[in-house]
Amino acid sequence: MKTDISLMAHGEPRTSTPAIDVRGLRKTYPDPSGEVRAIDGIDLALGAGEFVCILGPSGCGKSSLLNILAGFENATEGSALLGGVPITGPAHGQGVVFQDTAALFPWLNVRDNVGFGLRNAALSRAGRAAKVDEALRLVGLEGFARKWPHQLSGGMRQLVSIARVLVTESRVLLMDEPFGALDALTRQQMHRRLIDIWRATGVTVLLITHSVDEALYLANRVVVLSPRPARVALEIDVPLPFPRETTDAEFNRLKALALRQLGF
Ligand SMILES: Nc1ncnc2c1ncn2[C@@H]1O[C@H](COP(=O)(O)OP(=O)(O)O)[C@@H](O)[C@H]1O
Ligand SMILES: [Mg+2]
Repeated sequence: MKTDISLMAHGEPRTSTPAIDVRGLRKTYPDPSGEVRAIDGIDLALGAGEFVCILGPSGCGKSSLLNILAGFENATEGSALLGGVPITGPAHGQGVVFQDTAALFPWLNVRDNVGFGLRNAALSRAGRAAKVDEALRLVGLEGFARKWPHQLSGGMRQLVSIARVLVTESRVLLMDEPFGALDALTRQQMHRRLIDIWRATGVTVLLITHSVDEALYLANRVVVLSPRPARVALEIDVPLPFPRETTDAEFNRLKALALRQLGF
């Protein structure tokens, strides 16, 4: 993929401040029968430019963690910092891609969907268009600017969602099972595309999945959560080069570790 990251402002030197820093995080929801404990003390730090996958069983508290990082939910206890700054609400600097491929505005074309995040930015028309073009190029959707969401495949709609985050120069990309609704072949294509985007931009990625293969295919580090309430049960470093092979012996050794932790 052709890459020109000059507009994306992702090139600054890495600092020692973690991109994401979670300490003693707890989350309880009120419930008619008392309360639901979703997260029970998570510590997690992501360095700038890291790609971390969170792996955990259904209902364990993964989305709760991501929603706190996105500023959609408040923590009950503990702290969550983004670039050293406490998260107090949805903010510039992080962006979220959900599983739902209907997350785009159906009444806006691709260009305007991606540009929506810039609606309050002090930019000239030309400056805005240049940023949108750049984001579309980064996700490999140059040439699709005038298409409507319903004209795109599910995979392409997810790429538009990623472009919508990148256009705001987000330092952090938060993804909640973004490829869960896609067929296996499309999912593989999306994995390769996401690795390209991550390498071209240096954005910090936190991706939630319940697929062991997906986590090991993508991440520098896989964090396995316990069943609800979520705690960090196991961290697996994945020093394998890209593109990874699911038939590789080391890949399968790490896969066995993750599966054992998940109870298989
Ligand atoms: N807004 C909410 N109100 C009450 N309970 C919730 C809410 N959101 C999530 N929960 C509960 O918290 C637990 C964890 O949910 P969630 O974080 O969505 O898990 P996951 O994403 O791992 O499937 C579940 O038992 C869920 O029912
Ligand atoms: Mg979830």
